[in-house]
Amino acid sequence: MPTIHFQLNGASTAVDSDPDQTLLDVLRGQLGVTGPHFGCGAGECGACHVMVDGRAMTSCDMPMWSVADKDVVTVEGLGTVEQPHPLQRAFVAEQAMQCGYCVSGILISAAALLKRKPSPTEAEVRGALDRNLCRCGSHNRMVRAVLRAASKMAAP
Ligand code: FES
Repeated sequence: MPTIHFQLNGASTAVDSDPDQTLLDVLRGQLGVTGPHFGCGAGECGACHVMVDGRAMTSCDMPMWSVADKDVVTVEGLGTVEQPHPLQRAFVAEQAMQCGYCVSGILISAAALLKRKPSPTEAEVRGALDRNLCRCGSHNRMVRAVLRAASKMAAP
């Protein structure tokens, strides 16, 4: 099996993998990175979102060959328990989750948005989260949380 090299949450990573295996399988099964979740397995729900070179992408349908030499960030790379990302703080403050299954993917979508658009409008936040499903119906609180995080990050 070939060795595929990429950056994972800021660290150089090498993994022996079938090039057609999905990034989600490798993250969860081989590397123990369990933040990205398996939902639909068909690129439709966003539970598996990771950032690849700064863009939110589905990892359940992303073959490993396409990840070579890319920069991959999962929710584990956003913040820590001691030093949460402003988005993570805002999600807690707005109580923007119920079961939490979708949240790691939603945080990645929101982080990718704030990277390219630090002060988004509400419509832009809704657009960025459009590919993420939440069965608990927490979307409105999530939108508020993303706007809260953006304003905190913009504050001097
Ligand atoms: Fe990848 Fe649903 S599990 S989009």
